[in-house]
Amino acid sequence: MTKTNSDDVLVTHFDHHSRQFAGNAITTVNELREQAPVARSDAYDGFWVVTRHDLVAEAFRDFESFSSKNGASIPALSFGSTHIPTSMDPPDHQIYRRVLTPWFSQSSIRKLEPWIRETVAALVAKLAERGTWDFVPDLADITPGTVTLTILGMAADRQGEFLAAMARGMENQGTTDEELLAEMARDKEWLVAQILREAADRRAAPRDDLMSVLANDELPGGGKVTDAQIVDIVMVLLLAGFHTTSGALTAMLVHLERHPELRERLRAEPERIPDAIEEIVRLYAPATGMARQVTRDREFGGVQLREGDMAFMLIMAASRDPRQFENPDELDLDRSNSKSVAFGWGVHRCLGLHLARTVLRIEMELVFELLPDYEIDLERVRLSHTMGIGYLHESVPARLGGRAS
Ligand code: HEM
Repeated sequence: MTKTNSDDVLVTHFDHHSRQFAGNAITTVNELREQAPVARSDAYDGFWVVTRHDLVAEAFRDFESFSSKNGASIPALSFGSTHIPTSMDPPDHQIYRRVLTPWFSQSSIRKLEPWIRETVAALVAKLAERGTWDFVPDLADITPGTVTLTILGMAADRQGEFLAAMARGMENQGTTDEELLAEMARDKEWLVAQILREAADRRAAPRDDLMSVLANDELPGGGKVTDAQIVDIVMVLLLAGFHTTSGALTAMLVHLERHPELRERLRAEPERIPDAIEEIVRLYAPATGMARQVTRDREFGGVQLREGDMAFMLIMAASRDPRQFENPDELDLDRSNSKSVAFGWGVHRCLGLHLARTVLRIEMELVFELLPDYEIDLERVRLSHTMGIGYLHESVPARLGGRAS
């Protein structure tokens, strides 16, 4: 339901975490963008919803007017709102980004590629052996966590435990259920304890991994990373990479099942897989949107923002804006995605994008290679009941099929 108030502002009950939104996410964001580039939601104490591509990109770029200091989520995540570097503005943001960037750079990820391929090949070979599987728990959820934990130097085979501890908080963001909130607090405590134990281990015996750097090294400009900051950094690495990359893979697989001609084309021309990945993350936003806090009164997209207001940059809406992308709802391998905001924009642009792109490409290459005739049971595909974090699937059941290879 929407109405216009006395200031000519479109007011809605837009709640990106609601089941209602999850049931109709893409249509909802497309409609909202065409009704108002900036609308007012009365959910979660009120926030602005920014839907037009140029405005979302501008807000991401203009960190002086749109600060990350109050966190990138609405409402705040149960894992805390002081994540590093997500909830920092320059210049502090750059200090931590400089520590993290080398571990996630294109050249570092390229070096990991043979190992990622081997890891994914083992997983995909297991699917072939089993004959039936679910792409969500059996592939998509496993790979990104395995790689991120390995970069940190943490036992990769524990990714399932970490995923489980994060899932409740991610899926129930915004809940007021006391019992759930208590369970989420326990999940957070558990995660904090794991991270601090790893940091203590690395102080005792440093290794060649990111956790050792965080636990022992001086920051650029001086000073050590405190325990609390280590938690804030590792938490964001875990939260930012697991679900997003998983969501992108399953969105790709389901899209290809619905468009067999595209699936055949990518199988025949695997060098086009990277273009398909960019289009999939544009079309099915694995990160629904990011919050910012307004730092000064100003006009923006036809509304008057006030200092302290929260605003949600709805990437899912911006990515299908026809003002930026011709035929925005179509997957076009030849489209230039240089202006895509799917991985964010400006200083907070995704730290893990090379990792995500590499993992997704290798997963698709190996699915085509080792499961050439897989079939997804579209009738049993289930989308997540919450899309506040990203466009995610709960289940994508599949089996070896009889399709000609
Ligand atoms: C398809 C997969 C992914 C998508 C769509 C995605 C999307 C995004 C977006 C939109 C942002 C901007 C946040 C903001 O502006 O506040 C971001 C930041 C970030 N992403 Fe990703 N991400 C993905 C995968 C990953 C992976 C695999 C990692 C691995 C660790 C990762 C780590 C991060 C981190 C640490 C930030 C914060 C950067 C900063 O604040 O400077 N992401 N991501």
